[in-house]
Amino acid sequence: MNKRKLAGLISALAFTPALAGAQTAADHPTYAKEVSRIIQDNCQICHQPGQIGPMSFTSYEEVRPWAPLIRMKVMEREMPPYQYDADIGVQHLKNDWRLSAEDIGTIVAWVDAGAPMGNPEELPPPKDFPAVGEWRLAAELGPPDHTIQSTPWNVPANGQDLWWEPEVDSGIAENRCIKAVETLPSKAAHGSTHHANSHFITQDENGEWVTYGRLSEFAFGKLGEKVPKGACRTAPANSKVGWSIHYYPDGKAVPNDQVTVGIWYQDEDFDEESAYPQDLRAYNLSGGGDFLIPPHGKLMTQGFHSFDHPVRLDSWQPHLHLRGVAMSMEVFYPETGRREVLSQASNWNAGWNHSHTYEDGYQPLLPAGATIILTAWYDNTADNPRNPDPDQWVGAGQRTTDEMSHAWIAVTHLDEAGYQKELEERDAREQRAMAAR
Ligand code: HEC
Repeated sequence: MNKRKLAGLISALAFTPALAGAQTAADHPTYAKEVSRIIQDNCQICHQPGQIGPMSFTSYEEVRPWAPLIRMKVMEREMPPYQYDADIGVQHLKNDWRLSAEDIGTIVAWVDAGAPMGNPEELPPPKDFPAVGEWRLAAELGPPDHTIQSTPWNVPANGQDLWWEPEVDSGIAENRCIKAVETLPSKAAHGSTHHANSHFITQDENGEWVTYGRLSEFAFGKLGEKVPKGACRTAPANSKVGWSIHYYPDGKAVPNDQVTVGIWYQDEDFDEESAYPQDLRAYNLSGGGDFLIPPHGKLMTQGFHSFDHPVRLDSWQPHLHLRGVAMSMEVFYPETGRREVLSQASNWNAGWNHSHTYEDGYQPLLPAGATIILTAWYDNTADNPRNPDPDQWVGAGQRTTDEMSHAWIAVTHLDEAGYQKELEERDAREQRAMAAR
């Protein structure tokens, strides 16, 4: 059980109805005992001096003035920033930032009780955070085998948020299977590098440069990503890397800033022959065609994708622009007519980009012919707080003010034997769980 779940359980126990009758003012959660731990584990990585959070939450004195706003942001699940619905679809996610319902309840009860400090002796010791400017996967994997840097860019001290989208040579000479990737903002600009996505670009048979697949996705506070066991995601030779870096000036100018991606390759003894190929590509939500959202209007678009072999979906990352407000991924099984929601983000926010990576053994497994249904919803009315101008017609396009609709999905291409094997492993797990009950 992770710490967050444990803390949630403890606070849930503290509020069991049996105890509620005996509750006095002293039974309310306090900052010292419960809330400080939730803030440490879920907020301080960004909300401390020099990080991207606009205010620091490292002490009671710092947190207290924000208590009502914190209550609102956690209840609306806007903070921590991780827009993935809690009540539908696969809930086993790696590096899941969401607060448990119990933790949200604890914060709300604390604020409603007047946000008390409680007994300072119960405060936890300060938490250690990973050093900025260092690879977080290095502790486990050593330094990366290959690094790629974005073109230098002068980050101004102040101003609007900025997007920097250079292309660079990948420097990759031969196809290799990737074991892990991590994106590292510079130490100087770690407070202003909001997120940084990168993708491979390769030449097709006509010599045109086309997007090959995603390399890495980074949002502040994030660990790197490991490719699941037994899958080979290829780092393509003679490729380029396209960047999409979102800087948000934080008062400090950083000349010639560069973001770095590190790649760890599979070891020499990796059995590439028997590995299943995995790719991380963009799947569109509009049949590939154009669409138009009228002024003060709303729209829904869908995209359908299927494979002639069984697949495993390892991650899902919605991508929309400013009018996009929600996305879902469902699967339709033609043989039974069953339809199932796999993942949904009903409060999508273009300011944050997350690849939601399913835990091993919980990734959606699709038989050959099953159809993935991707649905996006757009709101071009004044009700959408991120809409810059509801009077515009909005079409599909690359600019931030155009609309976009795709989902990055990591797909492992299985064969019938691999598919059956995974099904059996999951059945066995279910059996064990049943027996343990
Ligand atoms: C990944 C980094 C990150 C994490 C983790 C994070 N925040 Fe934030 N937070 C931000 C940034 C950046 C902003 C300002 C921009 C925005 O609102 O998106 C912000 C804004 C806020 C605001 C102010 C919103 C406003 O309207 O002024 C509050 C309150 C807040 N966060 C609370 C929290 C709490 C409580 C947690 C933990 C439960 C948390 N945050 C976790 C980065 C983070």
